[in-house]
Amino acid sequence: MQKLMIQGGKRLRGEIALQGCKNSALPIIAATLLCGEDCTLLNCPKLTDVYSAARILNCLGCRCSTSGNTVWVDSSEVTEDRIPEELMREMRSSIIFMGAMVGRLGQCTVSVPGGCELGPRPIDMHLAALRKMGVDIREGGGKIVCRTSGERAKGAKISLSFPSVGATENIILCAVTAEGETVINNAAREPEICDLCGFLRACGASISGDGESRIVINGRRDLHGCCYRIMPDRIAGATYLAMTAATRGEIILTDACVPEMEPFLTVLEQTGCSIYTRENRIYLRSGSRLRAVPDRIRTMPHPGFPTDAQAVLMAALAGAEGTSIFEENIFDCRYRHAEALRKMGADIQVLGKVAIVRGVPQLTGASAEATDLRGGAAMAAAALAAEGKSEITRISHIDRGYERFEETVRALGGDIRRE
Ligand code: EPU
Repeated sequence: MQKLMIQGGKRLRGEIALQGCKNSALPIIAATLLCGEDCTLLNCPKLTDVYSAARILNCLGCRCSTSGNTVWVDSSEVTEDRIPEELMREMRSSIIFMGAMVGRLGQCTVSVPGGCELGPRPIDMHLAALRKMGVDIREGGGKIVCRTSGERAKGAKISLSFPSVGATENIILCAVTAEGETVINNAAREPEICDLCGFLRACGASISGDGESRIVINGRRDLHGCCYRIMPDRIAGATYLAMTAATRGEIILTDACVPEMEPFLTVLEQTGCSIYTRENRIYLRSGSRLRAVPDRIRTMPHPGFPTDAQAVLMAALAGAEGTSIFEENIFDCRYRHAEALRKMGADIQVLGKVAIVRGVPQLTGASAEATDLRGGAAMAAAALAAEGKSEITRISHIDRGYERFEETVRALGGDIRRE
């Protein structure tokens, strides 16, 4: 099993280009199923999850290949309507193929994704919405079998009880080739939803309102192929900024999605960092010890503070002056990194969905196991800021979301290596 060895205490300094976005690349790869022609996706991050999604397409009979940051898909032939359980298990977000397969084939068999490191991850909203669109869904023996009653799914008016990102994506994927109009109320407004809709529009889909709470989709029988560039990854961006701030360093982030990162930047700025943005570049200088964030940091659906950036900001604030308070409102179990940060000397108290972080003057290196993707990145951030050596194991979690993680940190002057 590979691990990261980190010698902390070096200020990160330098310029890096932001990778493409994992959380829009995955639904977009699933969406290529719908167009039945050639698609070229540019700026796809080189990540284990992206390769798992490519394997699923190949397993369904499409031809999908990757080279560098480009993914090619020819979905003219789809010969399978079932995703094997081992592929479903590789990547929880493979549930996103459900909407796309129903949209293309009118039927599919997938397995129940189950819980994960972040707690129970139900898909009740996905299933209820598809049922409303005329899809008959049977669950049993860990399988989900979907079949449309007619040839295609039917447009419907759907009101989500919570703006779930995955449910919104599955509905969109099912609706773009459905019969008639679909309206999603209380839709997720995450930038990744807009990226998925941008891709689908480039394939000829009729969608409006993405980025707002009400999305309207007019189903079309046929879509076509396209060439599309995946947006930058706002969470990877937040990670490298928080990491640099933690080490009191200085960074220029290029190829960034500045407006989409505003909810994070606004909070990070309150720690006393200087942040300047221009077009697609973000410049951050921290210089002195960070200050605690005065207001409670509440994770919320976009445009609120992103849950995916909670762990890395916590790592930075663990060494800040004063007390910061987090409130995690999206996932039940998203403070598992707190334990590892405590091993590094952080003073963090978790009380249900609240975490109280009393900044300490100096963290110290320790051995820790990555608990999940963003938690693992948070541990690396704390280790880079700490005095002494740290060892982080189970880094396959980190590889799911960060392209060339240690090379990127090394380019900023961090002392990190993989063993
Ligand atoms: N939920 C339900 N029922 C459902 C769907 C969701 O109860 O049918 C609950 C979930 O259990 C969770 C909350 O609603 O408590 C939010 O879930 P959501 O569906 O919005 O999240 P997701 O689609 O499963 C995506 C990202 C996550 C990110 C969340 C929130 C991908 C592949 N994953 O997950 O990313 O945290 O949205 O923004 O897009 C990550 O990148 O580290 C990551 C976990």
